[in-house]
This record gives sequence, structure tokens and C-alpha cells, in this order.
Amino acid sequence: MGRPLALVTGASTGIGEQLARVLAERGHDLVLVARDRARLEALAKELGEARGATCEVLPADLTDPGQLAAVEARAGAVDVLVNNAGFGTYGPFVELDVDGEDREVRLNVIAVVRLTHAAARAMVGRGRGGILNVASLAAFQPTPYDATYGATKAFVFSFTQAIHEELRGTGVAVTVLCPGFTRTEFQARAGVGTDPVPSFMWQEADEVARAGLDGLAKNRAVVIPGVLNRVVGNVSLVTPGALTRRVVSVVARRQRDAAQAGSSRDTEPRRDST
Ligand SMILES: NC(=O)c1ccc[n+]([C@@H]2O[C@H](COP(=O)([O-])OP(=O)(O)OC[C@H]3O[C@@H](n4cnc5c(N)ncnc54)[C@H](OP(=O)(O)O)[C@@H]3O)[C@@H](O)[C@H]2O)c1
Repeated sequence: MGRPLALVTGASTGIGEQLARVLAERGHDLVLVARDRARLEALAKELGEARGATCEVLPADLTDPGQLAAVEARAGAVDVLVNNAGFGTYGPFVELDVDGEDREVRLNVIAVVRLTHAAARAMVGRGRGGILNVASLAAFQPTPYDATYGATKAFVFSFTQAIHEELRGTGVAVTVLCPGFTRTEFQARAGVGTDPVPSFMWQEADEVARAGLDGLAKNRAVVIPGVLNRVVGNVSLVTPGALTRRVVSVVARRQRDAAQAGSSRDTEPRRDST
């Protein structure tokens, strides 16, 4: 048997880049997907030299149906699929550009559904494989000022658990990874500040990636990386929505104030990362 093949979306930076690194470390060849070809090529070169991994660079904007179809065509051939690419829009919903909300749903939801379908069908036929979908702790309650983002992640959270049950006994592992605050480009791309979030609440992308892949190896339905995140997540799930959505609303407004003060970013705020 050769090295297993893993396809990772959003592999150009952040959690996806670390997922690709850990998969290469654990003996996988890779298909690296994101829009930024130069970043993917640099990672492919590094992982080839350091880990002996054969890496295919597949640049694609997954919000574009034609480019998504090209990635779907590759997803049927992989042993591991990681749906990680995602972005958030931030602000009062009525003030946001609806085209950005539309792209957010296409990337965070439609691409996940189509790639999961393409991969899962082929994996069930082979009687083996693994699918890791990246949701968020934002999935666990409504998220005012991130309304569309939280809803897309609630979709991924529910959808992935359902597929986990459907594929029980087929040899295909299906896991949803729910990170909390993780140090990546995510917040800067969404134009939100990081200062109101205390440092002890942040995780590094590497530990999040390792937790997700460890959970997939054990076919866990849900992985919440970090003890604190597990406490927060489980409290959210049992707390009445009327309370959790108010708390999230207050935190989100503080992040917006911090972003407007420009106190925690070195990039200009963008409401849509695409
Ligand atoms: N960071 C956090 O605090 C946090 C918390 C919970 C959940 N998450 C989730 O974790 C996942 C990874 O986020 P991250 O924190 O690593 O964010 P990030 O650093 O901003 O990375 C996002 C990745 O998605 C790719 N991407 C964005 N738009 C794309 C598009 N249209 N087509 C293809 N690829 C696209 C980006 O690559 P290109 O720009 O090169 O396309 C990049 O590789 C996301 O699903 C996010 O919702 C993050």
C-alpha cells in the first residue's frame, strides 16, 4: 500500500495549513486547496522536502461552482477529506453586503455538502476513509453580529453528526471539529478585534489540528479542542438560548469596538475575506 491521500481545503494558512502539516507528518500525500497558489506551492515544497509527501496544488475559489466541481472530481479519489476552508462576515446583518453573505454560505455550507458527498460515496464503496469537517463553537448558539457565520457552522455541526451516524459500520469515519478562538488570520479577515478575548481563551492552530485528526482517527462524532472550550461548549448547549445569544451579542459588540479602535490588528478591516 502506498501513502494514503488527503485533500485539505483552506490549506494555504491557519488551521488548514497545520492540518496539512500534521497529515504529512503522519504519512499522507496531499491535495492542497485554497485560492492562494503561491502559498500552496510553498507548503507543497516544504512538505515534500521535510516529510517526503507528494503534494498536488489545486488552487480553487470554492464559492465558484465551476472551480468547486474541479475539486469535487478529486475528492472521490482521496482517503481523507478535510473541509476546513471558511470565513466569517461581521457586523449588523442589515448593513452587510448580501453578496458576501451569499459567498459565506457557498463556502461554509455548499462546498462542505458537495465535497462530503463526493468523498463519502467513494469511501463507502471502498469500505474505508475519513472526513473531517471544521465547524466552530459558534455552532452552539445563535451569534448576533456573526449571524450568517454562526448559522453556517450550526449547519456543519448538525450535518456532520448526521452523516457520522449514517456511515456507522461502513468503515468511514466522520468527525466535526469545533474550535474556539484560534490564532490565525480569521479574525483579521473578518475585521474583528482580538483584544476583548483574554489570552487564556486562545489556542494555536497546531493543537487544534492535532486534536481534530486524533478525533478522526478514533471516529469521534464531535471534537472540541481544549478543556476550556469543552466547558464553554457544553455550557452553551445546556443554557437557554435567550441567555447565550445575549452574552454573545455583548462579546461581539466589544470585538467590534476594539476593531474600530484599531487596537489589535495590523491589517485593515475587511467584512468579507473573499
Ligand atoms: N480561527 C478561529 O478562531 C476559528 C474558530 C472556530 C472555527 N474556525 C474555522 O476554522 C476554519 C479555518 O479557519 P482559520 O482560522 O484557519 O482561518 P484563516 O486563517 O482565515 O484561513 C482560512 C482558509 O480558508 C481559505 N479560503 C477562504 N476563502 C476561500 C475560498 N473562497 N475558496 C477556497 N478557500 C478559501 C483561505 O485560503 P485563501 O485565502 O488562499 O483562499 C485559508 O486557507 C474555518 O472554517 C473557520 O470558520 C476558526
